[in-house]
Amino acid sequence: MNVRFAPSGPLRGTLRVPPDKSISHRAAIIGAMAPEPVRIRNYLRAADTRSTLSAIRALGAIVEERADEIVVRGVGLRQAQQPVERIDVGNAGTLMRLLPGWLAVQQGKTFKLDGDDSIRRRPVDRIAEPLELMGARIEAREGRFPPFTVAGAPLAGIEYPLPVASAQVKSCVLLAGLVTDRTTVSEPLPARDHTERMLKAAGAPLEREGDPSSGYRTTVGNVDELALEEVDIPGDLSSAAFLIAAGVLVKGSRLVLQDIGVNWTRAGFLRILERMGAIVIGELEPAGEFSDREPACELDVSHGPIEATVVDRDEVPLAIDELPLVALLGSFAEGDTEVRGAGELRVKESDRIEAVVEGLRGLGAAIEATSDGFVVHGTGGLRGGRLNARGDHRLALLGAVAGLASAEGVEVVGMEAAEVSYPDFGSDLAKLAE
Ligand code: S3P
Repeated sequence: MNVRFAPSGPLRGTLRVPPDKSISHRAAIIGAMAPEPVRIRNYLRAADTRSTLSAIRALGAIVEERADEIVVRGVGLRQAQQPVERIDVGNAGTLMRLLPGWLAVQQGKTFKLDGDDSIRRRPVDRIAEPLELMGARIEAREGRFPPFTVAGAPLAGIEYPLPVASAQVKSCVLLAGLVTDRTTVSEPLPARDHTERMLKAAGAPLEREGDPSSGYRTTVGNVDELALEEVDIPGDLSSAAFLIAAGVLVKGSRLVLQDIGVNWTRAGFLRILERMGAIVIGELEPAGEFSDREPACELDVSHGPIEATVVDRDEVPLAIDELPLVALLGSFAEGDTEVRGAGELRVKESDRIEAVVEGLRGLGAAIEATSDGFVVHGTGGLRGGRLNARGDHRLALLGAVAGLASAEGVEVVGMEAAEVSYPDFGSDLAKLAE
């Protein structure tokens, strides 16, 4: 589906964005791991998180979908059923990497996972390695790609230094660690900690040491059962980021976005924007905080001039999904904007370094790829043209925002990719453009 996004007049109004995708996946999975019903308010109804509901149903959980909440009646930590069919994770990388942590715990059972064409290009060796060290058996196509099988086994605790700062891998190991005496994961840099917060809320024994500059060592231990009564999911900052960028770039805009999750391990984009001089006001969580809840606030965004910035390696995991937007903003900023140490972008739903550089260059941006990031020369604007989403939701939404802020508009090829995280983007935009 091709959709044209014309240059926009001022975007104004107050809006709630879709619920957080990362937290929704975790709430469904951890809910399925608990033996008592869990009420999840504001669960994301989008393709990725629907895949997670289908997956936990296949494993024996009962999911009741109500108007404003879902109720998950889980099967307990050690009692997942072995489905007859393979588990289809669709396009959801987070589901594909988190769920095996729980599956590995299921002694004597084997699970087969597969997904769409994009998922089949995304590596799973990063979770296979620690799970095999714990005693599970993983067999993947060419040793590292889906489809793959997870054979559950009695697991032993490990001390695992993450080779890359990945919240998905960290979460997978922590979930498996819940049946071991002691499992420790250390991260080279802090990555989003939604799993740790939810496990803490569910009564898991979880300790963490370290600080924002060094990264954390997180230890979990054996728990009989998880107990999570309710989860309240805030708005998704990664989805909000597209509207925030539109508000900053489109002349005369003023937006208020309500109930946005601002866990500091997710909010790197807001700190980058602040450095660029963008006017985005909100009560953010201070770096280093850790509790069993997810903070949220209102964000007030106004159009204004911006300047270039450098995003270094240590900031990358905290803004990983928003880096394509930093490239777009850099095009409008004064000076050269650079992102470094972001090689992980190459293994997302698309190679997001190549896709962003080629996509924005096709719209008139002066942007170059580097091995682990990109450099954008700010030219104060963007001509427009055509951008191929390559089946990647964040590329589709990037093209849409670029169109609104461009001189000639942008036609996004494959706009339906946005369904996995932000199905109502078009109607939300229409509300702000009225
Ligand atoms: C996610 C972690 C990030 C992010 C992805 C969601 C999560 O991936 O890019 O969109 O929910 O844990 P990595 O952990 O692989 O960096």
